[in-house]
Amino acid sequence: MRRKLAAGNWKMNGLRAALAEAEAITAAAAADGPEVLLCPPATLLAPMAAQAEGTALQIGGQYCHPAPSGAHTGHVSAPMLRDAGASYVIVGHSERRQDDGERDADVRAQTLAAWQAGLTAIVCVGETEAERDAANTLAIIGGQLAGSIPDTATGANLVVAYEPVWAIGTGRVPSVDQIGEVHDFIRARLEQRFGEGVGRSVRLLYGGSVKPGNAAEIFAVSNVDGALVGGASLTAADFTGIIAALG
Ligand code: 13P
Repeated sequence: MRRKLAAGNWKMNGLRAALAEAEAITAAAAADGPEVLLCPPATLLAPMAAQAEGTALQIGGQYCHPAPSGAHTGHVSAPMLRDAGASYVIVGHSERRQDDGERDADVRAQTLAAWQAGLTAIVCVGETEAERDAANTLAIIGGQLAGSIPDTATGANLVVAYEPVWAIGTGRVPSVDQIGEVHDFIRARLEQRFGEGVGRSVRLLYGGSVKPGNAAEIFAVSNVDGALVGGASLTAADFTGIIAALG
């Protein structure tokens, strides 16, 4: 019922030469398989979207400003992402929450901007190591979900990514029990707030050190509908291995 999704977040990586990797990844994107999404840096968005035209590969941004346009030097808006060929945008990534001081209310405003521009928002949540050690994981995730997701969520406009901060780029991965506990919790919260129909249709991604070697084990966990992949999405060899494990 929920289409699987393999999403690659290239973060601040990729010059034009990297479009060749995206082209190779495109070959693994099929209309009848898992959905495949690449979120390149803003500079590569338009050329990657042009290259992907007529294929099943989806393109997304990594951030959008809450306003559609204006005097905000260095920022990018949701209509600009859409205009460049994006259909998705990642919002509330922990690197932005940490580096740029984004709070739940900012993420909520960005999500609304994304929806207004016709983009699907991938809202990221996740606990730090200190929060997990203090047994606060579910409280933190619950607060982030409540504060970051606007009231008009649907299965089409929202994807939620669970990314434990301590697992990002570290090679450390939670146990399948830990992933399952959080994903079941997110599903229950979405069903409570938005009703069973919507709550069950929103896709939940796991992110944090997903590699071809651990992907199948992670994808077997209940309520894991795919992955948000950083480092391993930069090369076609690794990312296509993860896509294959999904479907
Ligand atoms: P890594 O896959 O490099 O750990 O990054 C995960 C991530 O932050 C994706 O958004």
